[in-house]
Amino acid sequence: MSGGETNQSPAVLGSVPTGTDVNHAARCLRQGLLVAMPTETVYGLAGAALQPRAAAAIFEAKQRPHFDPLIVHVAELDQVSLIAETMPPAGRALAERFWPGPLTLILPRRSEVPDLITAGLPGVGVRIPAHPVARQLIRQAGIPVAAPSANPFGGISPTTAAHVIAGLGQNVDYVLDGGSCTIGVESTIISVMGETPVLLRPGGLALEEIENLIGRIEIAKPDPAEDDRAQIAPGMLSRHYAPRSRMSLIGPDEPAVPQPGLRTVLLTWGCMTEAPGFERILSLGPADDLQICAARFFAALRVLDSLAPDVIIARQFPERGLGRALNDRLRRGATTPETSG
Ligand code: TXA
Ligand code: MG
Repeated sequence: MSGGETNQSPAVLGSVPTGTDVNHAARCLRQGLLVAMPTETVYGLAGAALQPRAAAAIFEAKQRPHFDPLIVHVAELDQVSLIAETMPPAGRALAERFWPGPLTLILPRRSEVPDLITAGLPGVGVRIPAHPVARQLIRQAGIPVAAPSANPFGGISPTTAAHVIAGLGQNVDYVLDGGSCTIGVESTIISVMGETPVLLRPGGLALEEIENLIGRIEIAKPDPAEDDRAQIAPGMLSRHYAPRSRMSLIGPDEPAVPQPGLRTVLLTWGCMTEAPGFERILSLGPADDLQICAARFFAALRVLDSLAPDVIIARQFPERGLGRALNDRLRRGATTPETSG
């Protein structure tokens, strides 16, 4: 599932300009245009972070509400001072250890950062991606680059160039194809704005690794009350990363049983010896290799969703390592619009 999918024929890619020309992509960014860029986590919809019109175009292309702030990507540590006022000690320790990589830090923002980027919050999300193409692109553009995941708001995140085109199509000026994303879930987000660092979103960097370095951190409630939302992470909406089909979750060790009379498909991991009655079963990978499971996760969800089943039954992971991020995406995907805030 990873590999392979990026070699789409031109017919599949249609008329959206797509290729591997980093120079062209960098020029687009400097001109305020939008570029879908590969990162190690998911593809991002990139635009010049300090150009308010480019930021506005990102929101427009994704149909993203303005209360949901964007992460700013830089290529080097010394570029962080262009957007953040200070680097608190815990942030420095994390940055030195885990950048480039799947970690976003919320840092005190500089006033030069457009309000649209931070949704008016006092912090700005910053990350140095590890994907060589992303870093080369940002370096060549020479400017900080805002990039949310390159999918329509609330939908399944893209892990190939073809996913980007399927979701955003003509709303992107150039799709820079860098192959399949190797990590496959979005970055872990840590706020270092207060005295204690807070985990705002579990992601591609395991909480255990973070706590090994800086000790125990606070974990934000996954679905904060409306009042708290503006202060911590407005993007922590309960329904997100969602397929169109209804999704129902089972525990890591629970038997998978199809729903009678319904077209049911199963998203699972580990060996599937027996599960009669499912229209389709996808196993993400071995039970002891969550990296493989994560790398295939969003693409597998797309495949099952494209069958338009009545229900996708999905097996949750043990709540550790990357399992935390995968469970978070599963829970948000399974939240129905009526129960989300
Ligand atoms: O791995 C990733 O982080 C990918 C790639 C492209 O880098 N990007 C990504 O962006 O997942 P997005 O827009 O899908 O998720 C960004 C989330 C927001 O929804 C919000 O929860 C949080 O990051 N965020 C961004 N800026 C913030 C801020 N200033 N304060 C609090 N939370 C912020
Ligand atoms: Mg997203």
